[in-house]
Amino acid sequence: METTLRYLLLLAAAVLISFTSRPAAAADAVKGKIAFEKNGCWQCHGYEGQGGAAGKTLAPKPMAYEAFNVFVRNSNTQMPPYPKQILSDADLADIHAYLSSIPAPKDYKTIPLLNQ
Ligand code: HEC
Repeated sequence: METTLRYLLLLAAAVLISFTSRPAAAADAVKGKIAFEKNGCWQCHGYEGQGGAAGKTLAPKPMAYEAFNVFVRNSNTQMPPYPKQILSDADLADIHAYLSSIPAPKDYKTIPLLNQ
């Protein structure tokens, strides 16, 4: 009986931890695209996160969410930092999901017209 109880408690803790420590798991790429535009990320990084004169390339394959979050919150370079009061963790996780959803461009070798 006691073992079962302990097992259940452990299970409950594991479920709680998996919900609280991984905001990216519930992130939504469609909402992320909206947040990316609303918060002005596109102004420096381009609408597809492709980068440009003012900001680095963010997609395809953005950095891992943890590092992404730390950078955006604490940037002290040309990029302004975005504290939680301005951009929530949920919105930032959605932005990361949006950037992760952007497909890599095709290899030019697979495009016949470019290989004649
Ligand atoms: C005013 C222009 C500007 C805006 C607006 C901006 N960024 Fe940036 N961002 C930059 C620049 C410039 C860098 C490169 C900084 C460096 O490496 O020193 C950067 C770097 C980054 C990096 C690190 C990329 C890497 O590979 O090192 C991430 C992640 C990032 N930006 C995300 C965002 C997000 C998300 C938003 C919107 C919430 C945003 N940025 C808005 C200019 C901007």
